[in-house]
Amino acid sequence: MILQNVQFVRSAADPSGFPKDGRPRIVFAGRSNVGKSSTINSLVGRKGFARVSASPGKTVFVNLFLAEDRLWLVDLPGYGYSKTSAREKARYSALIENYLHADMENIRRFMLIVDIRHDPTGDDRLMAEWAQSYGLPLSVVANKADKLKPSQIAGQIAAVRGGLCLPDSVPVIAFSAEKHTGRDEVIREIFSEVGYRT
Ligand code: GTP
Ligand code: MG
Repeated sequence: MILQNVQFVRSAADPSGFPKDGRPRIVFAGRSNVGKSSTINSLVGRKGFARVSASPGKTVFVNLFLAEDRLWLVDLPGYGYSKTSAREKARYSALIENYLHADMENIRRFMLIVDIRHDPTGDDRLMAEWAQSYGLPLSVVANKADKLKPSQIAGQIAAVRGGLCLPDSVPVIAFSAEKHTGRDEVIREIFSEVGYRT
C-alpha cells in the first residue's frame, strides 16, 4: 500500500503559507536527521520526493503536500541538531511552534518520528507530551529499523515507549523508510483518522 496522488504544494516560511482550508493534516515531526522526509518518500513510494538530506537540517520550512486532494501531509523542520547555529535553531523552533499552534484544530494524526536505535531525547518527550496534552492522535514511528538486527527490535520498541512514557493506546511502529518496513501500518494509522476514500 502506498499513498497515491500526492503533490508538493509549497514550502511555508511563515504563517502566511500555512494551509487555510479545513482538510485534515497529518504532521511529521521529529529530531533532525531522523528520517521525516524519507518517511514521506516511503509512504508515497517515490524516492527523492520530499527532499532528503545527507547532512542534517535540510528541511528548513514547513513543506506541504496534498494527498488525493483531500489530506495535507506536513513535513516539519527537524529539532535538536547540535551543529545548527543558535539563531537558526530559534527560527526553526519558532516556525514549528507557530505551525502547530496555528493549525492544531486541523491535525488529525501527529506522527512523531524517532530513531529506533536511540533512547528518545527530552525534546522528543516534550513533543509527545505536547501532542497528547492537546488530545491529538499520536503515533510514534520508530525509524531506521533496518539498522538493527531483527532480534533487537522488540526491546528497542519497548525502550522508545518507556522513554516517551506512552500509554498503551499510542502505537509505536517499527519502521524503515529505506526498506518500507511498517509502511502499511503507518498508512492504516493515517486513514484510521480520515476514513478510507469514499
Ligand atoms: P531534517 O529535514 O534535516 O530534519 O531530516 P529528516 O528527518 O527529514 O531526515 P531525512 O529524511 O532527510 O533523512 C536523514 C538521513 O537518514 C538520510 O541520509 C537518509 O537516507 C537516512 N535515513 C532515513 N530513513 C532511513 C532508514 O529507514 N534507514 C536508513 N538506513 N537510513 C535512513
Ligand atoms: Mg526533512
